[in-house]
Formats: sequence, structure tokens, C-alpha cells
Amino acid sequence: MKAVILINPYLSEERELYQPRRIAEELAARGVGADILPNAWTAHTERDGLASALAKRYAFCVYLDKDRYAARSLEACGMRLFNRAEAVELCDDKMLTHIALAGKVPMPETYFAPLCYKGEAEHVSAQEIGEKLGYPVVVKECFGSLGEQVFLAHGYGELTALMQRLKPRPHILQKFIAESAGQDLRVIAVGGETAVCMRRTSEHDFRSNIACGGRGEPFPPTEEVRAIARRVSETLRLDYCGIDLLFGKEGMLVCEVNSNAFFGGIERVTGVNVASLYVSHICREMGI
Ligand SMILES: Nc1ncnc2c1ncn2[C@@H]1O[C@H](COP(=O)(O)OP(=O)(O)OP(=O)(O)O)[C@@H](O)[C@H]1O
Ligand SMILES: [Mg+2]
Repeated sequence: MKAVILINPYLSEERELYQPRRIAEELAARGVGADILPNAWTAHTERDGLASALAKRYAFCVYLDKDRYAARSLEACGMRLFNRAEAVELCDDKMLTHIALAGKVPMPETYFAPLCYKGEAEHVSAQEIGEKLGYPVVVKECFGSLGEQVFLAHGYGELTALMQRLKPRPHILQKFIAESAGQDLRVIAVGGETAVCMRRTSEHDFRSNIACGGRGEPFPPTEEVRAIARRVSETLRLDYCGIDLLFGKEGMLVCEVNSNAFFGGIERVTGVNVASLYVSHICREMGI
């Protein structure tokens, strides 16, 4: 039996290549060979397309890309993807994640900015939403990572300017969870079970992402954290994910879910072998 590990063809940095390499090593340790391939030109479902060729050649795919189109093509050819295409899609888009999880797990109060198909259009006022949420308001692009597309609007003027700038791209408006400013929890869940948990803290930014200067430390997961991780994974049908949790007044709140969370950093901070836990789950699922 052979597996394919697909990665985005534009990746080249060591921290991006660590994940596929570690997964391949853990598969090899269980007697499963794996090829690491760039996810280029897979978007063909016709008989001789690469997607169907891959599906014939490999028993399953560890899908480390977020390309929704290639993921769907591969599944259409009968390939089992870890994570599944739908799960990748739901996590990639913060608005879709919110819709899927609404009523299932606690999340900050969130509003969706209307989509705009006309660049020159007058902006839609968010005065009422700003007043409902209270300032500052968190504004996030739906497709973003490393905290780069997350902003704070301190008043109506700033909110309007931000929305005007983000108008061509889907974005959401969210209540600022002041108790959690500069800190959150990053939980890695494998097969719904919490594998490891780390607290991230930043002294000079409300965003606690490591990329924004946050520091990580091991954090023992509570039953509340474990239950949320289970619910998120079940609802989105995730084999593997990174969940960001905020410290709310009345309990933990789901900030976002990453289907493709890097695990190198959390492994270094906690000493937990995430690659091994993920591959054990994959092997169980595949009956290996
Ligand atoms: N509503 C909020 N209230 C307070 N802090 C928040 C809120 N939303 C986000 N943050 C902070 O900003 C950080 C980045 O937000 P979020 O995780 O949604 O974006 P991201 O850019 O997608 O990050 P990732 O790289 O994990 O995908 C969070 O980790 C958290 O520290
Ligand atoms: Mg995040």
C-alpha cells in the first residue's frame, strides 16, 4: 500500500516542508510508503487526468494543501483524503466555518459583511452592527492566516475605512473578546481527540499568533477544551485540525479552525509527537 502526500506547489520554506516529511517518516515506520508531491495540475476528473491517475496509484492521500478544487477532483476519483475536501473548504473560509458551527459550540458574536460585486459601489453602513458589538470591533478577512488579515476598528470611522478597503474580499465583523486580548489556546485535535494544547501569549498585540510575536507554552487541556474539540471535529468531519480558542467571560469560545495547522511549533513547545498521532489515526481509518 502506498500513500501520496500532496502539498501546495508554491511551498518551499523549511517550516512548510517539515510537516510532509514527518508524516512520510511516520507512515514508513508503519510499513506504508509515501510520495510527497506538489499539488499541481490535479484538477482533472477526466479518465486520464492526474487526479484519477493518483487515485489509481495511491491508496489514500494526506492532503496538506487548501486547494478546494483539486481536493474535490481527487475525491470525485474515489480518493480518501485526510482531511476531506469539504472539511478543508469549511475551515478555509471563516464565514463558512462560523455557519457550520453556529449553535454547536460557543463562538464570539459575529456578523457577515455583505459581498460586493461592484468595486465603485457606495459602502453599506455598519453603524448598527458596530453599536451592537461595541468598539473596538474585530474585522477579519474570511481567507487569512498567521493573523495577517485580522484587524481592530476602534470607532465607526475606522470600521468604515476598513470595510471600504476590504469590500472586494469576503470579511466578517466580530465582538472583541477583551478578556482574551493577547492570548488564546491552540488545540490540535486528531480524530476528534485533543492531542496537545498550547497557550499563546503576546505582550504587544491583541493577536497572539506566533507570527505576530506571540510565545507558546504547554497548557493542560480541560474537559471543556476536549469537549469543544470533539464537537468541532465531529461537526466539520475533520481528521486533524488546529482550533484557536479565546478565553471568554463565561467559558472558552471558538475563534477559528485550521484544517491545515502547522504542527512543528507546537511539537517543539510541548514535546508531543503530533505526526505520529495523526498517522496512527490515518492507519486506523484505513484499516492498516
Ligand atoms: N474576537 C476576538 N477577540 C479577541 N481576540 C481575537 C478575536 N479574534 C481573533 N483574535 C486574536 O487574533 C488572532 C488571530 O485571529 P484568527 O485566529 O481568527 O486569525 P488567523 O489569521 O486566521 O490565524 P491562523 O494563522 O491561526 O489561521 C487570534 O489567535 C487571537 O489572538
Ligand atoms: Mg488563528
